[in-house]
Amino acid sequence: MARKLWAKRGMAALATGAMAVSLAACGGGGAGGGGGGGGDDEEGGLVGVAMPTQTYERWIADGDAVKSGLEEAGYDVDLQFAGDDIPTQQQQIEAMISKGAEALIIASIDGTALGSQLEQAAAADIPVISYDRLIRDSENVDFYVTFDNYEVGVQQGTSLLTGLGILDENGEEAADAPEGPFNIELFAGSPDDNNAGFFFDGAMEVLQPYIDDKTLVVPSKQTDFGTVAIQRWEQEGAQERMENLLTSTYTGGDTTIDGVLAPADVLSRGVITALQNSGYGKGDLDMPIITGQDAEAASAKLIESGDQYSTIFKDTRLLAEQAVIAATSFLEGTEPEANDTETYENGVKVVPSYLLPTVIVTADNLEAELIESGYLTEEEVASGQTD
Ligand code: BGC
Repeated sequence: MARKLWAKRGMAALATGAMAVSLAACGGGGAGGGGGGGGDDEEGGLVGVAMPTQTYERWIADGDAVKSGLEEAGYDVDLQFAGDDIPTQQQQIEAMISKGAEALIIASIDGTALGSQLEQAAAADIPVISYDRLIRDSENVDFYVTFDNYEVGVQQGTSLLTGLGILDENGEEAADAPEGPFNIELFAGSPDDNNAGFFFDGAMEVLQPYIDDKTLVVPSKQTDFGTVAIQRWEQEGAQERMENLLTSTYTGGDTTIDGVLAPADVLSRGVITALQNSGYGKGDLDMPIITGQDAEAASAKLIESGDQYSTIFKDTRLLAEQAVIAATSFLEGTEPEANDTETYENGVKVVPSYLLPTVIVTADNLEAELIESGYLTEEEVASGQTD
């Protein structure tokens, strides 16, 4: 069947990591050697791709990479962004099902809000791949592609300690560690995103012993997930919480803040704005050590300028590749290969998962990890913007 042929070609290109190889390049004289995604039923069915928002760089990059990977594998793609609005995402998924999508790849906004859409998908025998964020409370999630989310948190906690000088660059206790105590504040992501708890728990596993032995102090005393979580990962929400903390806990000049656990670049930027507005980064008042996640260009720029200490690089090209491999496997009638069948219990069942590794990025390895790997260009880092 032409579709299988296309799918196999796509898989071969993916297997070599050559996401950019176009169908035209590998077409040759074989049967059906036309462009992919051209609406010819013989060339592959429709795959629906639901992304949460275009507000963040990372989801735009994810959407583009999944779309082009599927098109290279010969499928038509309906890619939708939902503006972080739950009813919009629900409607988009319903529309994909009624348009005849043969597989769905979904990065949810609220991981618990898609039960009825997934029932409709199951009734129509449509495989559902949960993308990056686990869809919860539903039997009808067939596969999950993501990064090792707990490890992301561990890396964030570790880099906060490294930035403060408590750990050395190998993650070992530094021989010449400054005595402290260090004042830190904690932030977590959106409570309706299953990932947010994993990030926070991973980070706290690393930080808690230093809080217990008083090397680290949280002057606001706000340490539980529910209190420090920022609804819908909103930059303004993080800025506002940081402003409130500065007003409630850090007035008078005696208490200054040394570190902030921020779980995503978008929140780090809100935190940085609040700190800059209150005089940090000028004169004697150094910017605290601030963590992040996603290696967004806007934050890579802040890492280069020394305003943000670290980010966690999650190569969305590789995640998109795994999503395409999973969708292609289902559409060929096989099961995608999981490398984790224990961790991701969604409230109803353990969803077989494929987890990808992540890397801590600071000013020291930014060029090697982000620019030399082709993830961001030098110009994007310099301008803080992607094209
Ligand atoms: C993703 C992060 C992202 C966050 C906010 C999480 O589910 O895993 O990479 O920073 O959502 O968009």
